[in-house]
Amino acid sequence: MNTPHIRTPLPGPAAQALLARDAAVTSPSYPRENPFAMSHGRGCEVWDVDGNRFLDFAAGIAVCSTGHAHPDVVRAIQDAAAKFIHISSDYWHEGQTRLGERLAALAPMREPAMCFFGQSGTEAVEAALKLARYATRRPRFIGFLGGFHGRTMGALAFTSSKSTQQKRFAPTMPGVTHVPYPNPYRPLLAGGDQGRAVLDYVEEVLFRTSVPADEVAAVLVEPMQGEGGYVVPPPGFLAGLRDLCDRHGILLICDEVQTGIGRTGRMFACEHEGVQPDIVTMAKGIASGMPIGVMMARRGVMEAWPRGAHGNTYGGNPICCAAALATLDLVEGGYMANAARVGGIFMDRLRDLQSRHPEIGDVRGRGLFIGVELVEDRQSRAPAVELCDAVVGRAFHNGLLLLSCGRSTVRFMPPLVVSEAEVDEALALFEGSLNEAREARGAR
Ligand SMILES: Cc1ncc(COP(=O)(O)O)c(C=O)c1O
Repeated sequence: MNTPHIRTPLPGPAAQALLARDAAVTSPSYPRENPFAMSHGRGCEVWDVDGNRFLDFAAGIAVCSTGHAHPDVVRAIQDAAAKFIHISSDYWHEGQTRLGERLAALAPMREPAMCFFGQSGTEAVEAALKLARYATRRPRFIGFLGGFHGRTMGALAFTSSKSTQQKRFAPTMPGVTHVPYPNPYRPLLAGGDQGRAVLDYVEEVLFRTSVPADEVAAVLVEPMQGEGGYVVPPPGFLAGLRDLCDRHGILLICDEVQTGIGRTGRMFACEHEGVQPDIVTMAKGIASGMPIGVMMARRGVMEAWPRGAHGNTYGGNPICCAAALATLDLVEGGYMANAARVGGIFMDRLRDLQSRHPEIGDVRGRGLFIGVELVEDRQSRAPAVELCDAVVGRAFHNGLLLLSCGRSTVRFMPPLVVSEAEVDEALALFEGSLNEAREARGAR
């Protein structure tokens, strides 16, 4: 493709030199695929150390919600840093309390909400699991195949989107039983409505045979599955899960680490289904890239644990709280609406591409949480795994940062500030990359 913003072969000389130095000192465990070495960014654009310009439709794994280096966020960070950088969660400060108040006002819950602050998604999930055990005095949990909740030992016990994430780490936290996530495009259970089929399986099979319902503390679910393939569950599934939890005294934890803070066009993805969880976990988009994770619970649950039961050193870091408050201003002030509007246009244009490219088996998502599943042919729906990797690789060489998920799904998760013009540019790069990957395959 003719991509004028890419000036050097990739990686360019400066990126190559950095990668070589890095290989000597950085853990090889990071799942890095394309050699992008960042210099700086603005909005949805990023530049590498050789001056090549890319469109960023990965947003640091759905993190940079307000785009790169938003001036309001940068100012909030600078102002906070100039006052104090850290005080620890043993003390109080205005920013943390204000962020708690702000999130409580947004909480999709039946009761007033309270927050526990940490640094990452996985830490928010760990806090949710510990609170659920504490509050219910029950030992077991239910999770979903294809789920991703983090890589610490509690969260990892649920993570099941790729077996490489599990290999040689067992035993993780005991007591977790996985059930299929209802995937309308790839049904795992018999029956038309996969949501109903999964709920029946939990109730009629699991609870009767191996998992006593009254020993289950919580169900941990992504309201739309992220790493597992950007899957939107069928309507009614989350409400059915809420009902099942209510009937058995089980807590419902919605992991909104990837879906939350406006990305799907609503503040939380569970709101699309009108479902009120007991606990919500957040991270990623909440502070535009500053490391923060939040576990929010309805008061009746959070008040169950006493002083000293759970804590940390960095929770409520003042710079992260300031970045989160500035991010929420921007998301509520227009970027969430932009995600809904531009996301709708984006999906329509992808469906248009689907009508011209037989490899595009499915286009799905909400807002700017969009997955395009590539298949060998539409009849068999066999996942086109190599093609998917090749498309993401070609897109990088053409100046578009993308990530994959599931087995063969390309995910589009640009900053929420993305414009229609940037979506058109990304679509042209994506289509060109798909054509190149197909031609390369044909030539072999
Ligand atoms: C739904 C979900 N939960 C938890 C996590 C873990 O977050 P972190 O990488 O910040 O630990 C992720 C990360 O991708 C995620 O997508």
